[in-house]
Amino acid sequence: MSEVQQRKKIILSGIQPTGTFTLGNYIGALSNWVKLQEEYHSAYMIADLHALTVKQDPIKLRQQILSAFAVVLACGVDPEKSLVFMQSHIHQHAELNWVLACHTQFGELSRMTQFKDKSAKNADNVNAGLFTYPSLMAADILLYQADLVPVGADQKQHIEITRDIATRFNHLYGNTFTIPEPYIPKIGARIMSLAEPTKKMSKSDENTNAFVTILDKPETIVKKFKRAVTDSDMKVCYAEGKDGINNLISIYSTATGFSYEQIEKEFEGKGYGDFKKAVGEAVVELLRPVRENYERLIADKAYLEQCYQAGAEKAANLAQCTLKKVYKKVGLVMK
Ligand code: TRP
Repeated sequence: MSEVQQRKKIILSGIQPTGTFTLGNYIGALSNWVKLQEEYHSAYMIADLHALTVKQDPIKLRQQILSAFAVVLACGVDPEKSLVFMQSHIHQHAELNWVLACHTQFGELSRMTQFKDKSAKNADNVNAGLFTYPSLMAADILLYQADLVPVGADQKQHIEITRDIATRFNHLYGNTFTIPEPYIPKIGARIMSLAEPTKKMSKSDENTNAFVTILDKPETIVKKFKRAVTDSDMKVCYAEGKDGINNLISIYSTATGFSYEQIEKEFEGKGYGDFKKAVGEAVVELLRPVRENYERLIADKAYLEQCYQAGAEKAANLAQCTLKKVYKKVGLVMK
């Protein structure tokens, strides 16, 4: 086997530091990051530059970036195993973004569904950054020559455009970038709203009972599950049309490791009240270590700083290596 085939694959993902993270972010993204770091060379970043595409309050944003960094570590991402950093600390992201933007067509960016959604939601601030968001995301991925990019289904289109841009670049200038694949985890990939279970759980939901945040207190978590919307059928079983119960079963299954069959059996003949209480308690236990770690970490600013400085140093070396290649290939004079 050649060296290339043998090398450990590189995985890269990012999360925007906007608001507190939900149970959906934990199950769908962060808990997977923790598992993946055992198997891959993994790089995880706080996408703070991406957060600027919508209006932010500077004081709040600074807190949220640090808090997001602490959450990532609190979930179990280990800075000894993974590269963890803030996007804005690596100036190469903004630089590669420029070169890639010059190789991305207006037409392809116009087709991005996230751009259409976000510009409808922020009609008073349809800025150029929102439009070129995918080329910055492509830079994030391509700088580290990532093979796999764990993302939610809503980000799949951005991975596709990244592949298109990278392929185009490789064609024009010779092999430069690894073509990344999306990595969409199946289990628990879509945790739904507790209030409207046909909608994805979102931290921006106006109804705070619709989502559980990673840092919610145990009493709050139990209360929110007690209020979760179900149906009038009264039977704990996974079936079409039972969106609320299906969502709770999938959450309970991820929190406990029980299969759907085991869960149906456990609650045979019992009411939804008992089931919702059990799900709430299981989620409390699932998130307890995360919340405790978070409280410890956020109080230790010196440690956090030490981690992101070390992460930045390592990330910058990798990023610079790719950027230099790119500048050379497109014909810039090297100093
Ligand atoms: N756009 C992603 C999101 O909103 C976050 C992100 C930024 C990202 N850069 C990335 C994800 C690179 C994966 C790889 O969820």
